[in-house]
Amino acid sequence: MPCSSPRPEAPSPTWRASPGARPPGTSWQQPPASTPPPARSCRRSSDREANRSRSSRPTRKEHHLMTRIGILGAGRVGANLADRLASAGHDVILGRRDPKAQSAAPDEALHPHIPCSDQRTAARTADIVINATPGDSALDRLTDLRGELAGKILVDVSNATRDAGGLPGDLCYPGSSLAERLQAALPDTHVVKTLNTMLFMVMTAPDMLATPPTAYVSGDDEHAKKTVTGLLGDLGWQPAWIEDLGDITTARATEAMILVVPHILRRHGFKPFAVSLAR
Ligand SMILES: NC(=O)c1ccc[n+]([C@@H]2O[C@H](COP(=O)([O-])OP(=O)(O)OC[C@H]3O[C@@H](n4cnc5c(N)ncnc54)[C@H](OP(=O)(O)O)[C@@H]3O)[C@@H](O)[C@H]2O)c1
Repeated sequence: MPCSSPRPEAPSPTWRASPGARPPGTSWQQPPASTPPPARSCRRSSDREANRSRSSRPTRKEHHLMTRIGILGAGRVGANLADRLASAGHDVILGRRDPKAQSAAPDEALHPHIPCSDQRTAARTADIVINATPGDSALDRLTDLRGELAGKILVDVSNATRDAGGLPGDLCYPGSSLAERLQAALPDTHVVKTLNTMLFMVMTAPDMLATPPTAYVSGDDEHAKKTVTGLLGDLGWQPAWIEDLGDITTARATEAMILVVPHILRRHGFKPFAVSLAR
């Protein structure tokens, strides 16, 4: 059951799926004016093997080649992460409710090599799974994928809040966190929480901010966190910007950081930001 109780206060910008909404002044992933935009839909997973052999993507170290990253949800966060990770040479599959549908990310073209499948197939065939779906309904959805996620790393970048007119409202799990709930529901999966404390474009371009941002990392398994830290490096995160807070209970703090977000958005619109640690 989604944790939703819409509240009447309705600010103008929408934090979630908002066709056409994008922060002012951000030109990330936009091709030059003279370049026709690539197709937005991603390839079917059945095309994948043939495409891999034709791919001219850069090769990575062998241990990375053995890893397939499944991203659940092709919204702004999912499409952005998929595009950047694929461009970095990772084997990425996008798990979507309707693999044939266009991405909800309006202006962001998907990397043309990225195959699509339903979310269960993406979770089953990936080694690392990233949850980029709505956090308020993620617990039920991911618990239903318990078998597919067993033995894998689940990177949760979502925020579980009640909707407040298109902006994040109250926490769904006060006194706890979605990440803790997921770890409890998925004991055979290593849950790692990260990247939920910034606007989506910062996740893949942290150097776009004037102040170095912070990527907080929470999780019980050290090896899983090390693997995720490596992925953050591939997204452009310098080691000094990555803050391993400790076990999964520390996600309670970073999930609560979402409470500041609607106020920042009301004041500054969708200007890129991250809730960061300053020293
Ligand atoms: N936007 C940000 O700047 C930002 C920053 C930090 C964290 N987050 C968190 O990251 C997550 C994704 O955010 P977003 O901005 O990308 O949201 P979004 O644009 O609404 O995309 C979410 C995607 O999840 C899939 N989805 C939606 N409802 C679903 C359902 N009931 N079951 C399964 N899949 C569903 C859809 O992908 P398909 O159509 O492909 O199925 C949808 O495009 C959220 O939890 C959000 O709180 C967002």
